[in-house]
Amino acid sequence: MTARKSSRSRSSSRTRGTKESAARGPASDAESSAEPGGKPAARNKRRSRRRRSERKPRRGWRNASNSDPRELYELAVQSPELEATFIDRVFRKIRNRTPRTMREDFAASFALAGEWVRRRPRNTVVAIDLDPEVLAWGQRHRANERSAEELSRIRLVQSDVSRFRGPRVDVVAAFNFSYFVFKTPAQLRRYFENARRSLVRDGLFVIDAYGGYESWSVMDEERNLDGFTYVWDQAMVNPISNEVLNHIHFRFPDGSEIKRAFTYDWRLWTLAEIREALAAAGFRRSTVYWEGTERKTGGGNGVFRPSDRGEPCAGWIAYIVAER
Ligand SMILES: C[S@@+](CC[C@H](N)C(=O)[O-])C[C@H]1O[C@@H](n2cnc3c(N)ncnc32)[C@H](O)[C@@H]1O
Repeated sequence: MTARKSSRSRSSSRTRGTKESAARGPASDAESSAEPGGKPAARNKRRSRRRRSERKPRRGWRNASNSDPRELYELAVQSPELEATFIDRVFRKIRNRTPRTMREDFAASFALAGEWVRRRPRNTVVAIDLDPEVLAWGQRHRANERSAEELSRIRLVQSDVSRFRGPRVDVVAAFNFSYFVFKTPAQLRRYFENARRSLVRDGLFVIDAYGGYESWSVMDEERNLDGFTYVWDQAMVNPISNEVLNHIHFRFPDGSEIKRAFTYDWRLWTLAEIREALAAAGFRRSTVYWEGTERKTGGGNGVFRPSDRGEPCAGWIAYIVAER
């Protein structure tokens, strides 16, 4: 099967996630739908084929100088409601209870944390990121959409996720493939060990991953969103080290552009490698939640179920749930 799956992601549809494809109906507890992070879709790298809008830009439209890249990032690749719904469903299914405490790793503007405290009045979260600027941006932004009481249940920590020590939580979550920043098995294991140590006895570690044969190609993918175009640019792939260099650019109807708004210098870990590292870090079991296929299109249907077998599609996104 060659179709692309991945309804969520950095780019778009079952290719690299953009968590946009929501609307999965009432998934059974076993399924858990949600789309994680974002990924690019398949298409050969033809950068010159930019789709500049044929429409004449109007006053008030987005352009490179009036846009905030972080806001565009949130609009383009994040779906905190879907992620929180996925976590709730999986936790209830596996542990037969509702999770309450969370640690959001690589939290950036901590959109997931904001959603977590909105869901239930006793939910609390520790949101961790290395970068004080993005945490401060998140504080300003979340303050517009959450009450003071909700915000009081979010603890922000500027730290390396591999070094953080804090109270144990029900769930450690890391989305949008951020742990791909760790490039050696030793670094990956060290991070996974830290996440495991942060969990209560029946706690779950929930992460995502992307892949597919197009992930190993130099190419870019565009997605037209509300007033701007999101571009996922796989600029470099090294098949010897499995290192990849990806950028996000934003383009606007007036022809302006924010180039390299975000850059990701990653190692593209395979699901098998990730599960081996989880086992080495002491997790008792890990399960891959693979996205189902939309019959008509052959693409992803937004419903993620536990699976031991996937199809070799062009692009996919999956969740991995590890049990402490
Ligand atoms: C891809 S972005 C955030 C992704 C966000 N969780 C999402 O779902 O879209 C990655 C973030 O990880 C942070 N980061 C990178 N290495 C880190 C580390 N070792 N510890 C904590 N944060 C780190 C960066 O500062 C950045 O804000």
